[in-house]
Formats: sequence, structure tokens, C-alpha cells
Amino acid sequence: MGLKDKLDQLRQQGLTEVKASSDLNKINDIRVKMLGKKGPITEVLRGMRELSAEERPKIGQFANEVRDDLTNAIEAKRSELEQAKINAQLEHEKLDVTLPGNTVPQGQPHVIQQIIDQLVDLFIGMGYEVAIGDEVEEDHYNFEMLNLPKDHPARDMQDTFYVTPEILMRTQTSPMQARMLEQHDFTKGPLKMVSPGKVYRRDTDDATHSHQFHQVEGMVIGKHITMADLKGTLEVVAQELFGDELDVRLRPSYFPFTEPSVEADITCFNCHGRGCAICKQTGWIEVLGAGMTHPNVLKMASVDPEVYGGFAFGLGPDRFAMLKYGVEDIRDFYQNDVRFLTQFNQKG
Ligand code: DAH
Repeated sequence: MGLKDKLDQLRQQGLTEVKASSDLNKINDIRVKMLGKKGPITEVLRGMRELSAEERPKIGQFANEVRDDLTNAIEAKRSELEQAKINAQLEHEKLDVTLPGNTVPQGQPHVIQQIIDQLVDLFIGMGYEVAIGDEVEEDHYNFEMLNLPKDHPARDMQDTFYVTPEILMRTQTSPMQARMLEQHDFTKGPLKMVSPGKVYRRDTDDATHSHQFHQVEGMVIGKHITMADLKGTLEVVAQELFGDELDVRLRPSYFPFTEPSVEADITCFNCHGRGCAICKQTGWIEVLGAGMTHPNVLKMASVDPEVYGGFAFGLGPDRFAMLKYGVEDIRDFYQNDVRFLTQFNQKG
């Protein structure tokens, strides 16, 4: 058999084997066997030395064709098999995206925190700074700097958990007034601050008392600040929380750190002033304490009461939440019953 026939036969044999194989490893074996250094094609090409100068290039060219044909057939088969393998894998790993997923329960801020966040956001929008104090506070800031010396009878208004005779669990967020007044540089402008946080009192827990609850303190001190500013600010707060047709009414009251002191009522959001069970038929609901900062408080913080003055207020987010959502027992907020808390899910 001439070399050309031999090559042709090898080609046929190779192509048939490639066609018949359905395994990637086998394809590789065929490649090595047919086209490798020790394979029959190389063998045939070695025999070319014996050919005439005229025939050698022809056979050489034919040999290249044979090699190309086989190489192409092997590559085509290989990619066909690889694709088939991928398809099989995809089929096997197929996901049904319409199956319901595993829902991860989503947390959310506690309802009291929601009210605090809403208020704090409102005040930030009005240019107030936020001051977060410590729950363990000095008697000095919680009382003395707020015009409540050690023997002051008004200390009885707030039954206190003492840690030592000078350290206590703060009974109010008002100590942040004193701390901020001390720090503030009034040459740079007025002090406008809010301070939200937890406070503690030695109360027996019942439906309206908790030994730990929340307050948001607010204070504005500068030049020419009047009680009208206080009232306007409280109106904004009431409207933010309860809707915009509400009025604010100030009644005389007493706090050692304000003079005059007031208690602020808002129009009952439930009956709009007509009288109902929530407002005990008065049309008004008491929501917070406030007043014009006492000159002694300013003096003790080295702020000149002849030049600077302003207002302060302290409100209870727990009470706001009870009013807003008709919750009758403050302890519900602290027992962390998820069924109760998820009622206030902001995302519905
Ligand atoms: N700290 C007072 C309390 O716990 C509430 C309060 C009243 C705060 C009047 C104030 C204020 O800043 O001016 O009863």
C-alpha cells in the first residue's frame, strides 16, 4: 500500500473512532494514539525519506490535511461532549425559582425607639444637636446643677436609685442640660440640644409606672428666646406625633430648674377636644413638663443669665406611645412579647 493510501486509511479509522466515542477521556486517548509522536501518522511521515523529491511535498501536504482533519474532528467532538456534560450538570442542578424561599424574620426598632427616632429626627431637622448621656450619673449633674441642692424638698419628686451617695441611676435626662451648658461655646451661637435616653426611679411597677422608662430632653439657650418659642416648638412636636390640628396649652407648674415652669397639654387627638375617655372628658392631654431655664441653672454652668436665656422641656416617649396607640399598661412595652411588639411593625 502506498503512503497516501495508508494515510487515507488512518484518517478513516481515526474519524470512525472519534465518531463512535462518547467519552472525553477516550477522545484524548484517540488524539494521543493517532497524532502523538509514537502514532501511526508520525510513523508514516518518517517513511517519507524514501520518497522521491517530486513525491515528498505532495505526500507531505496530504499528511498535513489528514492531521488537520483528525485534529478538527477531535476538537469538534471534544466541545460537543463538554457541552453535553455542562448541559447534564445544569439539568441536574436546576433550581425552581418559583418555590417559596425561606423567610428570615426581620427585626425592627422597638415601638418606643420608633417614637424616639421620630422625635430626634424632627429636632435634627430644626438644627438641634443630639447629646446621649450616661445612665449612671453624678448626683451633681442629676440634681445639684439643676438647682436641687442636697436638702431640696423637690428631690422627693423623684425617688432615686443611688449607687453611692454621689453616684446614681439618672432619674431624668435633664442632667444633659447642665453638661451641655457647661460645654457650649456661646460665642458660636445658641445651644439647641435634645437628649433621648433611659431613666430610672424607685417606683413600684404598675400600669402607669415603671422603674425604668424613657425621656427626651430638649433645651434652647441663646439671646432673646421667649416662652413663645417654647410653645411654638411644642406645637411642632405635637403635630409631628399626633397630626396637625392639635393645639398646645401651657399650665403653670413647678420644676426646680425652670422659672416659670409649665405643664403642656395637647388637644386630645382622639376626640379633638370634645371630651372622651382618653382625656377624661377635658379635651386635653398632659404630655410634658417644660419652662424657662432658671437663672441659677445658667449661673452654675457659668452662663450669664443677664445675657442668655431660653427654654427646656422633658417628655416621655413611653407616655406618647401609650397615648398614640391606646396601650393601657406601660409594662407591655418592657415584657418583650413579640406578638405585642410586632403590632408596631413599621413595614406593615
Ligand atoms: N425632668 C423633668 C421630670 O423628669 C421633666 C422636665 C420638666 C424636663 C421641665 C425639663 C423641664 O427640661 O424644663 O419630671
